[in-house]
Amino acid sequence: MSRRDHLGNEGHIFSATQEFSPFNVVAWHGNYVPYKYDLSKFCPINAVSFDHPDPSIFTVLTANSSIPGCAVADFVIFPPRWTVSQHTFRPPYYHRNSQNEFMGLIKGMYEAKQDNFLPGGASLHLCMTPHGPDTATFERAQQMDDSCSDQPGRISQETLAFMFETHMTPRTTAQALSSPCIDRDYYKCWASLRKHFDPAYEPLAKKQ
Ligand SMILES: [Fe+2]
Repeated sequence: MSRRDHLGNEGHIFSATQEFSPFNVVAWHGNYVPYKYDLSKFCPINAVSFDHPDPSIFTVLTANSSIPGCAVADFVIFPPRWTVSQHTFRPPYYHRNSQNEFMGLIKGMYEAKQDNFLPGGASLHLCMTPHGPDTATFERAQQMDDSCSDQPGRISQETLAFMFETHMTPRTTAQALSSPCIDRDYYKCWASLRKHFDPAYEPLAKKQ
C-alpha cells in the first residue's frame, strides 16, 4: 500500500492505492453501506398528460432535510424512455429555482443540448440561475409542437445523464475554475433564441 500527497480538501487532491477494496466486506456496521446500483434498472414515473409531477420523476436517491419538500440533495438520472405528453413542450423547460444543479452526461446525447455537451462533460447551474434547452433543441421542439405534439417521442436508448440537486450552494475549486476544459462560451447556447410568443395563438381552443 502506498500513499502520497496530503489529505486536504477544497482545492487539494489526494490519491491512494491499496491491494484490496474497502467495499469487499460481508457485513457493515452503521447507517451507511456501499451499494452498487445498475442505473438501467431505474424506472421514471412518467407523465401521460401534460404535467411533470413533483418531486422529480427522475429521482433515484434523495436525502431529506428538516424542511418538507426540500431535500439536502437529490440524485437524478435522465434515462432512455418514451415521452407522451400532449399540447406541451417536451424538453426540460426553462426555469430557475433555489436549487443548485450539477449535471453530467455519461453516454449518448442529452435531450436538452444538441451541441457541445459531450459524454464526460458536466454543467453547474447555481441557485436562481436561469437555464434550459439550447436554441437547437427549442427550435426542434417548437416544430414538433406544431406538427405532432400528441405523438409519442423516444429518448434514445443510448443516452444517460445524471444530476445532483441541492439547496446548499457548492463551492468551486480554483483548479476547476482554471481548467482548460471549461466551456467559456456555454452561455452562447441560448444567445440565438427567438421570440415566439403570439398573443393570438390559442392551441387548446383550436384542438377542442
Ligand atoms: Fe435545472
